[in-house]
Amino acid sequence: MATKTALITGTSRSAGLGFAVARQLAEHGYHVILTARDQSAAEPLAERLRQDGHAATALRLDLSDRAGMDEAAHHLAETFGHLDVLVNNASVMPDFRVLDALDADMDALRSAMDVSVIGPWALTQALLPLLTAAPAARIVNVSSLSAQQIATGLDLGAPLRSPAYSMAKYMLNALTTVLARALADTPILVNAVDPGNTATHPERGDDASDRPAAESAYDIVKAATLGADGPTGQLFADGRSAA
Ligand SMILES: NC(=O)c1ccc[n+]([C@@H]2O[C@H](COP(=O)([O-])OP(=O)(O)OC[C@H]3O[C@@H](n4cnc5c(N)ncnc54)[C@H](OP(=O)(O)O)[C@@H]3O)[C@@H](O)[C@H]2O)c1
Repeated sequence: MATKTALITGTSRSAGLGFAVARQLAEHGYHVILTARDQSAAEPLAERLRQDGHAATALRLDLSDRAGMDEAAHHLAETFGHLDVLVNNASVMPDFRVLDALDADMDALRSAMDVSVIGPWALTQALLPLLTAAPAARIVNVSSLSAQQIATGLDLGAPLRSPAYSMAKYMLNALTTVLARALADTPILVNAVDPGNTATHPERGDDASDRPAAESAYDIVKAATLGADGPTGQLFADGRSAA
């Protein structure tokens, strides 16, 4: 049987969610492809997994570089011929301290849209032949509760926190629905997961109530390994389907 393969974007930090997802998928028997803008950041993490007996490779992938995505797709086609799982985990949060949509910085919005919406969309296009070549591929978009500020309707007068990040994640949820619909006649399932506040930045002093990365990764891996009768076009939060 062909090796199961999984590509995870934004796997440059050992404390990040991407690496926790990569480790768990590797433990499920996938050959994991850890990607980062700077391949040398992902390489030591791939090496850590290999030392633990798993199959792991590092690959350069910048979500704002379409030509680079095509190169990565070509490399994966030559090496594996198929891709079973794509986890769109990478993101930027350029406006953590901005508390109102009226103060949104348009450059910040552009960069957030690049990494959270246009990048995953273009990457799905670039990898589609590989995803289609797998028996039943899964795409998981890592979303955020921030999007729910918009989805559930802001109370009149309530400001939008981190407007660029939140709007991009809201659009990522919409992209999840759109791609699920576009792929409805295939075995490919597309879902989004809000991992919840997660302790991925110890250097910033995570909140004591933040979930450990392994716990949040579990929900993402669950969506990445759904069975044939699994849902598509859903947003999961805390392991449950969200509205
Ligand atoms: N941690 C939380 O509390 C929390 C809560 C809700 C949702 N999430 C979501 O969970 C995911 C992972 O969170 P995290 O805290 O682990 O994030 P993170 O490590 O801070 O960032 C994820 C990765 O995105 C990469 N990235 C940024 N721009 C990129 C680009 N143009 N191309 C490719 N990669 C790029 C970064 O790599 P570089 O090294 O290249 O910058 C980084 O490795 C994100 O989607 C985040 O929005 C997290």
